[in-house]
Amino acid sequence: MQHSNKCGYWHTAAILVTLVVSLVAIFLGLFTQPEDIMSLKALFAGGTVYRNIVWYTKGMKEFTRGGYETAARNFNDEDLDVDISNLSYMITGSNSGLGKCTALELAKRGATVHMVCRNETRGLKAKDEVINESGNEKVHLHLLDLSKPRDIVKFARDFVSSEKQLDVLVNNAGCMIHEYKLDENELETNFATNTLGTYILTTELLPSLSRSSSAQVVTVSSGGMYTEKLDPYDLNLAARQDKFDGTFAYGQNKRQQVVMSRLWAVKYPNIHFSSMHPGWAATVAVQTSMPDFSAKMGDKLRTPEQGADTITWLCIAARNLKLPSGLFFQDRTAVSEHLPLARSHSSDVEEATLMERLEQLKSKFLPSEDQPTEQLKLKSAF
Ligand SMILES: NC(=O)c1ccc[n+]([C@@H]2O[C@H](COP(=O)([O-])OP(=O)(O)OC[C@H]3O[C@@H](n4cnc5c(N)ncnc54)[C@H](OP(=O)(O)O)[C@@H]3O)[C@@H](O)[C@H]2O)c1
Repeated sequence: MQHSNKCGYWHTAAILVTLVVSLVAIFLGLFTQPEDIMSLKALFAGGTVYRNIVWYTKGMKEFTRGGYETAARNFNDEDLDVDISNLSYMITGSNSGLGKCTALELAKRGATVHMVCRNETRGLKAKDEVINESGNEKVHLHLLDLSKPRDIVKFARDFVSSEKQLDVLVNNAGCMIHEYKLDENELETNFATNTLGTYILTTELLPSLSRSSSAQVVTVSSGGMYTEKLDPYDLNLAARQDKFDGTFAYGQNKRQQVVMSRLWAVKYPNIHFSSMHPGWAATVAVQTSMPDFSAKMGDKLRTPEQGADTITWLCIAARNLKLPSGLFFQDRTAVSEHLPLARSHSSDVEEATLMERLEQLKSKFLPSEDQPTEQLKLKSAF
């Protein structure tokens, strides 16, 4: 009885907050033009209407270029006053956008940079540009498609056995694909790239990272995850394939990344983990996956450099500032993983289920000698 009263209270409070936020948004003029109802479909798709309205209102204030400029007034330049010339970084998806900006910034500071890209032409061009602009020759290109689990295992194991130094892994590669596609492994592409690829690469590189005295993993998530509550029971989104929504898939994947990062922090105390939201930045991904949003936002979008700022800051300053492991960041500040009253918290069981299922899935792609004896069928792991 007490429980249902409590639920009723939160429900009423949530409705009231939704109404107030909607009114404030209308008065602020966010939705006054027909074209301003920027893809209302996107606004209301996936998570609850309440979460989407609060997310959009918060985003207009904080995730934009203006939001960055406001936050940057409190940045401390000395945070980045760290010698990283003896450190080695690996950045996935570093041929464009935020990943490339991060690679360039780290290369300019004299670090060794391993750029992990899937396309040779784009990768070589980006590598040459990073070397030319930074004057640093310690920049290496590796070809890897993060949606291909077996290739990731092979790549990571080759890297580990090469005994190359690795201090920091930046999980940056990501995608938002609006069509439900299963690959040759029966993996949905957003999940395979954003979640499973990140999980396999990170866990397989642990032996290399563990050799570093200040190992770190930075995962580039997204504020898109705010609209979703973790659902670990349909990772491949099979139940949603008929009315597939790429925005929902992306939000789920980005939520999964944040949960993974926080749980890894507990499991591997010798490695520093963090996840982050770059804000809304003008990159190829935003232009191609969210063309209406990109056009509507125009110069309200951050520059790629502004979007990459917190990635770079975490790569450099976290070791200096001795930040706790496992946190989620925005604009150089640890922030909540949840919107207020959004009811997007997941239980310990749900979070443990996510990790178990990812581990089960990963095991399908290991060399036969490393396969667990009692294996579940691939589909049963989703
Ligand atoms: N820009 C934003 O406003 C924003 C907001 C929130 C989160 N993010 C996140 O920021 C990260 C970087 O995105 P971005 O905005 O900088 O876009 P971007 O310029 O398009 O960069 C995405 C990178 O990921 C790579 N990639 C995609 N799928 C891959 C795969 N299967 N294997 C290997 N690499 C793959 C892309 O390679 P190709 O060039 O070969 O496609 C590209 O290098 C993503 O994780 C994204 O979700 C961005």
